Amino acid sequence: MKSLGIVVSNPDDWTARAISMGLAELGASAVMMDISELAVEIGFDLSFRKGGVDLFDLDTLIIRDMGRGAPQDVAFRFEALRSLADLGVTVINPPDAIVRAANKFATSMALRRAGVPTPRTVVTSSYDEALKTVERMGRAVCKPLFGYKGKDIALLRPGDADLIKDLLIRRGALYLQEFIETPEKRDIRAFVVGEEVAGAIYRVAPPGEWISNLARGGRAERCEISDEIERIAVDANRAVGTMYSGVDMLESEDGMMVIEVNGTPSGKGIYSALGVNVGRTIAGLALGVPMR
Ligand SMILES: Nc1ncnc2c1ncn2[C@@H]1O[C@H](COP(=O)(O)OP(=O)(O)O)[C@@H](O)[C@H]1O
Ligand SMILES: [Mg+2]
Repeated sequence: MKSLGIVVSNPDDWTARAISMGLAELGASAVMMDISELAVEIGFDLSFRKGGVDLFDLDTLIIRDMGRGAPQDVAFRFEALRSLADLGVTVINPPDAIVRAANKFATSMALRRAGVPTPRTVVTSSYDEALKTVERMGRAVCKPLFGYKGKDIALLRPGDADLIKDLLIRRGALYLQEFIETPEKRDIRAFVVGEEVAGAIYRVAPPGEWISNLARGGRAERCEISDEIERIAVDANRAVGTMYSGVDMLESEDGMMVIEVNGTPSGKGIYSALGVNVGRTIAGLALGVPMR
């Protein structure tokens, strides 16, 4: 039997528990671990200790979340997981893919290279370039490079010179994306596991708003998984290198466009809205069991 671990910062996390229960249904079990207190020892022996567990002894490590922390902390944890992956532990999602997904610039590049439709985007540290981009786009969505949950997103318009300057001073670089007009102010979150979409929801922004994350008050509604959604979401997941992910899409006049691939997605929204439990599907993926 495989030995498994689930990396999670909050032991009560819905998704981590769902994966754990999914594993149990398939006859396996996993230790839950918060790796904020990891100790890696590099000597004659090599160990990756957390509590009484050496992560190096595990066959498979499922990452639910990396936890937050200072940049050095986060860099250390990623490097430790990357090393474990290099040493032969199966890490799901692969650390490099989680890093790529967390970085919106890297994600945009990966999508573009794989031919997955994504809105026109400019990333720059230049004030003049940023100003010109906003003039050209008319409306530009400015997102933190490492943003999440719809936080700190601004809609810029030509003439917002002071705001652009201020954002540039605070962030050092701006990620600017053309504003996509959608039928309603909504996006689509497709939950991809392996080569399939397990479920999809519309997230409808609250009245007067356009940012539709559930954490920002968005409302979840059932979304039929069209062929286009299936294909684009699976392609986006593959482009970023994740094995399971939450792919965010906007319905533009020119078809679906991917704006984000979340490499550590929560399964709770899709369970609440559709009753689809991705815990079991992710468990199947980790055990190499076909889930159809
Ligand atoms: N280019 C865009 N045009 C219109 N709305 C957008 C655009 N990009 C993002 N949004 C809105 O903002 C939300 C958050 O954007 P997203 O790129 O998914 O960042 P986050 O990582 O914060 O979730 C989306 O769910 C969508 O409602
Ligand atoms: Mg998003």
